Amino acid sequence: MDPSPLPIALAALAVVISVLLYLRFRHRLPPGPRPWPVVGNLYDIKPVRFRCFAEWAQTYGPIMSVWFGTTLNVVVSSSELAKEVLKEHDPQLADRPRSRSAARFSRDGKDLIWADYGPHYVKVRKVCNLELFSPRRLEALRPVREDEVTAMVESIFRDCTRIDKVGKSSVVRDHLAPVAFNNITRLAFGKRFVSSEGLTDEQGKEFKAIVANGLKFGASLSLAEFVWWLRWMFPIDEDAYSKHNARRDRLTKIIMEEHTRARNKSGAKQHFVDALLTLKDQYDLSEDTIIGLLWDMITAGMDTTVITVEWAMAELVRNPKVQEKVQEELDRVIGYERIMSEADFQNLPYLQCVVKESLRLHPPTPLMLPHKATANVKIGGYDIPKGSNVHVNVWAIARDPQIWKNPLEYRPERFAEENIDIKGNDFRVLPFGAGRRVCPGAQLGINLVASMLGHLLHHFKWTLPDGVKPEDVDMSENPGMVTFMHTPLQAIATPRLPTHLYKRVPVDM
Ligand code: HEM
Repeated sequence: MDPSPLPIALAALAVVISVLLYLRFRHRLPPGPRPWPVVGNLYDIKPVRFRCFAEWAQTYGPIMSVWFGTTLNVVVSSSELAKEVLKEHDPQLADRPRSRSAARFSRDGKDLIWADYGPHYVKVRKVCNLELFSPRRLEALRPVREDEVTAMVESIFRDCTRIDKVGKSSVVRDHLAPVAFNNITRLAFGKRFVSSEGLTDEQGKEFKAIVANGLKFGASLSLAEFVWWLRWMFPIDEDAYSKHNARRDRLTKIIMEEHTRARNKSGAKQHFVDALLTLKDQYDLSEDTIIGLLWDMITAGMDTTVITVEWAMAELVRNPKVQEKVQEELDRVIGYERIMSEADFQNLPYLQCVVKESLRLHPPTPLMLPHKATANVKIGGYDIPKGSNVHVNVWAIARDPQIWKNPLEYRPERFAEENIDIKGNDFRVLPFGAGRRVCPGAQLGINLVASMLGHLLHHFKWTLPDGVKPEDVDMSENPGMVTFMHTPLQAIATPRLPTHLYKRVPVDM
């Protein structure tokens, strides 16, 4: 007699369930919200993820398991555990999980951001640390930053002194975004795609279209990312990705050829594209890596600075006493006869505290970038199995009442009372991460943010629109990997220096 298929099917199901349960319970995983079958906690996560994780941490503690589909994601939200992740176990947690789109854009990690930790990563990181972000190159590119910051001042002045605009508010971000855009395209590609009249050339339009298209792809967060055996149901549009990559490569190669011709005529310039082409043989860099690196800078370096300055300005219009104190320092050190330069930073300690306090309360990448375990490790006494993703909630840590006094208060003085590093050496405040993967652009980011804020505050007094009270300013964030203000800040700018100091200081480099 043939055996009945039902008991066989039930036995097979029992085996599958036992294997899954064994896999799940063989480790002592961190606690966390109960996962649903297949989808895990994916549909319980609220859009502003770092706030949701901070809320859950109140219930489950500073180390949590959160299941994205069938992928384990460990979220840590305390300073001690951040140190375990980013210092003690840094070598085993320095890979990156790549979404399907990140894998396509980075050609499986041939760049820096999405590269796994290994010989390729070590080599490219060395190029960044020794060549691209060296103090010498940072200084050589300073005139570009000062040109762009003074262009911002000129455009705000033009705007706020127009007859119909006097005393009216404007969207602050509209003035910040061009600085970051022009600065990064000049730094990476040696190009200012936008004329002084604000017109974008053809290459610039293509560049902007590629950036916008990339963001659209990057935003997709489907279940299929996290449940590999469901991927066949959600195939990705390979054709759209290859077209996007081809378009990006085409533009980059044209720019690279222009640079090669110019370099042969008049020698190498300081921009990253020239540096990378000159160092290509010495470091054995492939064309994919050079293109990947150049676009990494755009992705990582553009929005982060705009976001930081916009949040800082929101705090400064809500806290006029702090604003006045920075202005008092600027007036004392620089006066009314000249404009600020980066050389003044060392004499502007309060401005530096404002930068630090803004990055403490509003880190633009609140969960940093995800890390991935390359081996089984123990964090906080729990097992983190190889292959899990690990996130550090730097936003929550920087607001932890156990380590910060009145953490929600915007009080730059706290950084004057104690010398606290924000570049990865103090685990209470980690806007740039720490350890092997710490942001290589941290000093550049800090300089640009400090320069933008210094100029904005020296040149103008900033106030809220009539009738808007400090508590009315919407201080919530947009969902996403980076945290733009949900409602763009509106403020009134009133000039406070002699008119001749509002001119752009252009440089041709
Ligand atoms: C306020 C400005 C900035 C902030 C707050 C910031 C923050 C961060 C954070 C949190 C990470 C991830 C660290 C980790 O995974 O452990 C990162 C990585 C990175 N950042 Fe920044 N960043 C800023 C500006 C910049 C700038 C201006 C550049 C370049 C022009 C840059 C280039 C990069 C790159 C290439 C990585 C990847 C590093 C790696 O994977 O090894 N960042 N940044």
